[in-house]
Amino acid sequence: MSQESFCRVCSGKVREFYDFGRHPLSDAFVDPEKVDDEEFFYRLAVGVCRDCTMVQLMEEVPRERMFHDGYPYQSSGSVVMRTHFEDFAKRVLNAEDLGTDPFVVELGCNDGVMLKVLADAGVRHLGVEPSGGVADLAAAKGVRVIKTFFEEETARRILTEHGPADVIYAANTLCHIPYMDSILNGVRALLAPDGVFVFEDPYFGDILERTSFDQIYDEHFFFFTARSVRAMAERFGLELVDVERLPVHGGEVRYTLARSGARQPSNAVAELVAEEETKRLTAPDTLSAFGERVTGIREELTSLLRRLRDEGKTVVGYGATAKSATVNNLCGIGPDLVSFVVDSTPDKQGKLTPGTHIPVREPEAFSGPYPDYALLFAWNHADEIMAKEQRFRDAGGQWILYVPEVHIV
Ligand code: SAH
Ligand code: TYD
Ligand code: ZN
Repeated sequence: MSQESFCRVCSGKVREFYDFGRHPLSDAFVDPEKVDDEEFFYRLAVGVCRDCTMVQLMEEVPRERMFHDGYPYQSSGSVVMRTHFEDFAKRVLNAEDLGTDPFVVELGCNDGVMLKVLADAGVRHLGVEPSGGVADLAAAKGVRVIKTFFEEETARRILTEHGPADVIYAANTLCHIPYMDSILNGVRALLAPDGVFVFEDPYFGDILERTSFDQIYDEHFFFFTARSVRAMAERFGLELVDVERLPVHGGEVRYTLARSGARQPSNAVAELVAEEETKRLTAPDTLSAFGERVTGIREELTSLLRRLRDEGKTVVGYGATAKSATVNNLCGIGPDLVSFVVDSTPDKQGKLTPGTHIPVREPEAFSGPYPDYALLFAWNHADEIMAKEQRFRDAGGQWILYVPEVHIV
């Protein structure tokens, strides 16, 4: 049943547009020894604020349940992403408008893939990372990191100890944080007068266009648009001064915020807001059509997998992504339909996927022997993975994708 909640940005009423049902935490891989322990479930549903148009989850999961010492996701797991973050760091190093001794803070620095470049170049920096395991990986690379959640109090502490930040950066992290008032008050407190807050997250425009419904899960609380981010910034004395579309993770936008009036907004901001208005991104009929497409994909994917099972074909999953928790639990995909999933992340291997308990194995298991079909859960890394696994295709294997629709390649 459709329910209402209150916007975590402006306190307006949030109207629900899709209910995925009860879901486990997307990165809570299950130890086979503890399979009888009860898993934590929450209601995964998404809505839109009637006032500020921010798209957000209807229900919030306590942050300590998701981000803790055992949090498995490692940013360096993809070569393409590694290059992406290193390119951003190089851009910071080459920025002409940064003074002689800039200070860069990263929220959610994870395993330190971006900050390592700055650390190696001798730039003053600080990573803020509550997940202890990945924070340790960053520290081992020589990155300066504090193991805590960024919020207003953290920002004030950093300001006292290090002074103002010229650049605050957050990749795939701001959208994870429901307590936006504390974050943006903290950013405003910490930012140097001419500093910038740069963050990049999955773009709701791309999620709609590609029906990439699996971007919706516990950790992704907000789904930004230029319009909603511009309004959000204004509430906190900040201004959206630039937007840049990025190809990574199935389509993202990199937003740049500055103190209100400090910088001239680029034309790209007005252009993207205008495009969103033309496309009526958050209009009720657009959102209900999205929901209908999701339900259609669910039905098609489950019937395809059941048919392949009945025909005696083997199907293996590729990439035990957080996103796949949404797909598996929405579609009821368990080990009867997908025998196992391969994934390069050490902390996921030997575990079972959340909720539907598909075993996760190391990538070497993929070729021993190749399955008939591979369900590409890590579709956002398709180019990288398909190139690396060309021999699967050569051996007659076929990839199953479900974004933007169910298809076999
Ligand atoms: N920036 C990396 C990691 C993204 S995963 C990348 O783009 O690949 C999201 C990260 O945000 C996790 O490592 C999580 O521990 C961290 N995180 C969650 N809440 C946070 C908060 N309040 N402050 C800082 N980091 C946070
Ligand atoms: P990703 O899609 O980046 O994020 P999320 O978990 O937020 O949905 O996750 C990619 C997963 O796929 C990650 O667990 C690592 C794995 N992976 C491989 O196993 N092999 C590869 O070649 C790549 C690129 C990723
Ligand atoms: Zn709102």
